[in-house]
Amino acid sequence: MSDAIEDLEIQLLLEALFQRYHYDFRHYARASIKRRLIQARQQLGYPTISAMQDRVLHDASALPRLLDFLTVQVSEMFRDPTYFKALREKVLPHLRTYPSLKVWIAGSSTGEEVYSLAILFKEEGLYDRTIFYATDINPEALAAAEAGIYAIDRIRKFTENHQKSGGKSSLSDYYTAAYGRAVFDKSLRDRVVFSDHSLVTDAVFAEMHLISCRNVMIYFDRPLQDRAIGLFHDSLARKGFLGLGSKESLRFSSHAGAFTEFVPGEKIYQRREP
Ligand SMILES: C[S@@+](CC[C@H](N)C(=O)[O-])C[C@H]1O[C@@H](n2cnc3c(N)ncnc32)[C@H](O)[C@@H]1O
Repeated sequence: MSDAIEDLEIQLLLEALFQRYHYDFRHYARASIKRRLIQARQQLGYPTISAMQDRVLHDASALPRLLDFLTVQVSEMFRDPTYFKALREKVLPHLRTYPSLKVWIAGSSTGEEVYSLAILFKEEGLYDRTIFYATDINPEALAAAEAGIYAIDRIRKFTENHQKSGGKSSLSDYYTAAYGRAVFDKSLRDRVVFSDHSLVTDAVFAEMHLISCRNVMIYFDRPLQDRAIGLFHDSLARKGFLGLGSKESLRFSSHAGAFTEFVPGEKIYQRREP
């Protein structure tokens, strides 16, 4: 099949997903969307992208499988431990001065980042005064995040990362192991609100003190990255903090001037005073 036809089919499918379900992937980095749609077509057994579009348009139950291909769900607790160490040592001392705090974990996937931040805030004595908003567009990922159950063979890496982040407790204090799974304590999510929110189509969450949005914007094209960063800017309280993934940055954004680099090596920024 010609590449040009496949590109057209992809464009039409993305438009169809938006018109029918309001999922907007039209401005995601096209090369990686294309790679993942071709993978979906092959693995789900469709002869063409158009055939896949036909199915998903008429049968909403086909949507979750396709969403799993379109959204990348790779995550890990205390992923890039030096990021969490920098939050612990440089950002939390500032947050300590507020009587109540709001933290937004945007693109929280299956919850590993949420539990990492909850543990970090507990260890630093800030958990009880904080509300965490964990948002994602993938409903299955959000449900997994809310359940907080992970395969036990991932725990060794999570524990190692937690220690490297300057962990003050033992990770095993926070989960119960059973039947090959680690079930994280409810007490880590009693202050977490899980909700469906898209950085592409939805509005701001106001007055956050910290926004952690890691490894989400890498999938966006430049204008969409700019929209998301504008959203973060408008959602942050004065002097609030924004943490991005290790491969992400504000450098090319039109909003760059509205932030200072707070911990440059860790992609942690602070909103300037207006
Ligand atoms: C690679 S995971 C990152 C998980 C976690 N933040 C981390 O760094 O370990 C990317 C997540 O972004 C979510 N995502 C993709 N597009 C999004 C959007 N428009 N708004 C919010 N989340 C989105 C995906 O569903 C996925 O859960």
